Amino acid sequence: MRLRVKLVSGGYTRLLRPVLFRSHHGDPEAIHEQMIALLAAVGSNPLAQRALGLLIPRAGRAVNVAGIDFPNRVGLAAGMDKDGLAARAWAGLGFGFAELGTVTGRAQPGNDKPRVFRLPASKALINRMGFNNEGAAALAARLAALGVERGNGRLGIPIGISIGKTKAVPLADAVDDYLASLNAVAPHADYVAVNVSSPNTPGLRKLQDGRAVEELLGELCSRAGNLAVRYRGAPVPIFLKVAPDIEWPDLDGLLLAAENAGAAGFIATNTTLRRRGLKGRDAAKAGEDGGLSGRPLTRLAREVVGYITAHTALPVIASGGIMRPEDAMAMFDLGARLVQLYTGFVYSGPALAANINAWDLAREPLWDGGRRSSGRETSGPAASDPKEG
Ligand SMILES: Cc1cc2nc3c(=O)[nH]c(=O)nc-3n(C[C@H](O)[C@H](O)[C@H](O)COP(=O)(O)O)c2cc1C
Repeated sequence: MRLRVKLVSGGYTRLLRPVLFRSHHGDPEAIHEQMIALLAAVGSNPLAQRALGLLIPRAGRAVNVAGIDFPNRVGLAAGMDKDGLAARAWAGLGFGFAELGTVTGRAQPGNDKPRVFRLPASKALINRMGFNNEGAAALAARLAALGVERGNGRLGIPIGISIGKTKAVPLADAVDDYLASLNAVAPHADYVAVNVSSPNTPGLRKLQDGRAVEELLGELCSRAGNLAVRYRGAPVPIFLKVAPDIEWPDLDGLLLAAENAGAAGFIATNTTLRRRGLKGRDAAKAGEDGGLSGRPLTRLAREVVGYITAHTALPVIASGGIMRPEDAMAMFDLGARLVQLYTGFVYSGPALAANINAWDLAREPLWDGGRRSSGRETSGPAASDPKEG
């Protein structure tokens, strides 16, 4: 298993990545679209899926979080597959869950291009996509056509769906816009993530204010309860995704508000507006507007995850700067129950989830009856090159 992971990992970083990063004149968004189209094709072809299964191991540490059974603790972060085009491929790449979206109440084109920038020396990305997506109803229809219903495991892994605010909808009407998305996606989602933390929709982060969070999540949780009655199931768990650019007192207010409203947990963090930790060679792109992700976010995301796990009993899904297995282990040691990858997947490639899973399996259980263990560090299997990432 380790050899396979090593081969796929080395093949990507040494052979495929250099070619990929130069294709489409180096345009990261065009390359991304091509990769999603390729993965969509792989996902729809049983033979290709089986071949992928031979290359990439899927074994990992199974957990139950918020009543959902996850085959392993490594997920795909929101934004990679906004419209669920490659929904059938993610399990084959070793992910234990995939968060599709962010989708909004209405379809929208997002910001003008270019809107994604690669900062390779820093192993980072800056994006200001602005929730380009086909709308919540289109994603719901796509998943319905695949037979994906909450809890039926149709895609082999749990599916989360991230919902955000339509840009054209005024902030004062945000609740209705989120409710429209929830109505559409709830029957097809194992959990719903409420995104109030993207830096690329004007004013969106104002919804992180304690009172706004309590109102928004209160309405969404109550609607989830009503929908559950209609669909004769349990209410879909609702997670809140938070920004890393937040002062501790504001975060305290947000945590309390989300708990009061009935949130199932937190996803921490989204991208940052800060520009710390960038290498000089990336200076030309450091001034681009948007959210920064990847290696420069690692430390900040850890601080926020550590703060949240210390201040709430609700589960935390860690996202932000997880570029190597060690980064995921650090998040687990801080008490995160699950992790998600975006930029690490771009730089380290399709073996990263499998590599993290191998490390996760090689360690002692961190959780025993919900109490955190000492978090003792043990070295993982040799599959990961510590210099990589
Ligand atoms: C190009 C791009 C698009 C993203 N789109 C979304 C999105 O639609 N919704 C969301 O909640 N997060 C989005 N994110 C944030 C990621 O889900 C993730 O939280 C963030 O990038 C930090 O993780 P990372 O350092 O592993 O990339 C996006 C990130 C990138 C780089």
